[in-house]
Amino acid sequence: MDENQLKSSAKRKVFYITTPIYYVNDVPHIGHAYTTIIADAVSRHKKLAGLEVYFLTGTDEHGQKIEKAAAEKNLSPIELANQVVGRFKQLWQDLLIDYNFFIRTTADFHEKGVQAIFQQLKEKGDIYKGIYRGWYCVSCENFLTEDIPLDEDGLKTCPDCGKKATQVAEECYFFRLSAYQEKLLAFYQQNPHFVRPQSRMNEVVSFVRQGLKDLSITRTTVKWGIPVPNDPAHTIYVWFDALHNYLTGIGYGWNSSLFHKFWPADIHLIGKDILRFHAIFWPAFLMAAGLPLPKIVYSHGWWLKDETKMSKSKGNVLDPRIILEDFGPDPLRYFLLREVPIGLDGNFSHEGFLHRVNSDLANDLGNLVHRTLTMIQNYFQGKMEQPAPENESDRHLREAFNQTKTKAIAFYDELAINRALEEIWSYINQVNKYLADNEPWKMARQAEARPRLARILYQTGCALRGIALLIYPVMPASAEKIWQMLGEKTALSKLTYDQFQFETWLPEEAISPPVPLFPRVRLEDFLKEKASPTPATKKITKEAKMSTISFEEFMKMDLRVGEILSVEKVEGTRKLYKIQVSLGEETKQMVSGIAEEYQPQDLIGKKVVVVANLKPAVIRGIESQTMLLAADVNGRAVIPFFVEDVPAGAKVR
Ligand code: ME8
Ligand code: MG
Repeated sequence: MDENQLKSSAKRKVFYITTPIYYVNDVPHIGHAYTTIIADAVSRHKKLAGLEVYFLTGTDEHGQKIEKAAAEKNLSPIELANQVVGRFKQLWQDLLIDYNFFIRTTADFHEKGVQAIFQQLKEKGDIYKGIYRGWYCVSCENFLTEDIPLDEDGLKTCPDCGKKATQVAEECYFFRLSAYQEKLLAFYQQNPHFVRPQSRMNEVVSFVRQGLKDLSITRTTVKWGIPVPNDPAHTIYVWFDALHNYLTGIGYGWNSSLFHKFWPADIHLIGKDILRFHAIFWPAFLMAAGLPLPKIVYSHGWWLKDETKMSKSKGNVLDPRIILEDFGPDPLRYFLLREVPIGLDGNFSHEGFLHRVNSDLANDLGNLVHRTLTMIQNYFQGKMEQPAPENESDRHLREAFNQTKTKAIAFYDELAINRALEEIWSYINQVNKYLADNEPWKMARQAEARPRLARILYQTGCALRGIALLIYPVMPASAEKIWQMLGEKTALSKLTYDQFQFETWLPEEAISPPVPLFPRVRLEDFLKEKASPTPATKKITKEAKMSTISFEEFMKMDLRVGEILSVEKVEGTRKLYKIQVSLGEETKQMVSGIAEEYQPQDLIGKKVVVVANLKPAVIRGIESQTMLLAADVNGRAVIPFFVEDVPAGAKVR
């Protein structure tokens, strides 16, 4: 957001965010979940920032597309809508979407609101009756522009979805869009950041510059729609109907003080597929109605499957429920928000998902929480003692948190959620390194080191509380769990960023032993059970057919827990690290090809499985005396780390 907008929304103290209202011709998929998750994260962030938030989502239930889908299923349109609405609401509940209101365009107050505006614009002369001749794409509920040529069958093909369009000639009402061309261009000029990202703004401006024609906004051939006031042979075009949900969903026509409190919207969050409707038609409708325009239309990219857009009409959609069953809401929320910057397209794969979840959530964060809380249990029976004064490294950890907090909040504000998460994860790794450097486990049995030990664990606990606060917008369930495990009584959802202080952690009672935060699911298990086969599964089944070995042969291998002490890049290589690993009594050196997947700070202090009795070899002139175990995921190494604190040197079998 630019500074002026930041200031004005800070002054307003209220924040109104919307998602598109989704069609009910079919059940929700990952793409719908994505938009709604972004909106939820932004809305939780704004609440932490102290704003009063109204978050609107819902369903778009009229039009030819729904009429057709219902007929194919032998249902009436409203029966189909009712069923699908149930699916959406269930999914939002499972994903912890905390919306304020769910609007359905079949609701009476919505229909009345749309009719009132229609009537108003008609009386004003912005809506007039005429004859429409042209081509209509039912799948997109959109009229084709005239420049699209006829094909050899004398038909036109929709440039957006590739389906055949149908020719229509009918009496209809038009909206005088052409009258708003110059006003829109002037508006864009005064509000150059109205559409985000910037590239999309440019697209919109050049489209409007090419000229706008009046828009047909009623149909006589579609029965399933809001009737035109005093002319019920016509129904209102589904997009005219749908866009006004942003007004009726906040009280327009039924709660004027609510409406005036929150309108105009601060952000309409949408996918880039429906940008023109939101950035051109919608502001024009609002100008005609004499209402203030939304502040920002934020258009995000698409989730692709096998390089094409996931969409119901293409039949290549992924059902988020499959992931939710195994992982719960937070890993999916985290993945979708972390993996790609809002605005760009992303390719969804179960492999990519699992990799992120295992490395960022289970290893980096889950492990840290578990180790810390286990040490507090083991060394202090869960009750913090008076810590020693802060030393340099403790102070550094505290100050680094405050910097991380400032940066993460600024990134959340700009909807650069992936960058906020990067900042937070870089802090998580600093905390991991702080523990590795301070080696609290070595102090446990030295009475004189207890105050220092208490400080290290206290400082880490403070850091974990801070991390819980910062991840809350994206992972509310895990954040609340960490928060509670640290002995906090009031929910994070009741807090603001300003109220939080790093050093005010004061658990009153002994804190209980940790519960696991993130399940570890093996890729092959997940794919075998849940998803269609991919090259990775095929490879696994092939490998499973390799010749068997006897138990004695297996026992020849001396597998041990190794603690990684130091990691250095092998010069002149892209992939290789030189790693020192402690096996308890002895330290071994190895050369390992994992530099593309892991940063040194991701490794130092971690416990891994190593083969202790491997014959040494020389790699790039360096003696390699052991090796660590890692999964091979299409050539990418994924290291299994220990979730529990285990002593270096322990035998693994
Ligand atoms: O267009 N990747 O509804 P819709 C990312 N009813 N986001 C995706 C996606 C994908 N592959 N597929 C869908 C409509 N979405 C109208 C909207 S608003 C007044 C009326 C998300 O069910 C994205 O937000 O086709 C996209 O804009 C929206 O779902 C379209 O949902
Ligand atoms: Mg669509």
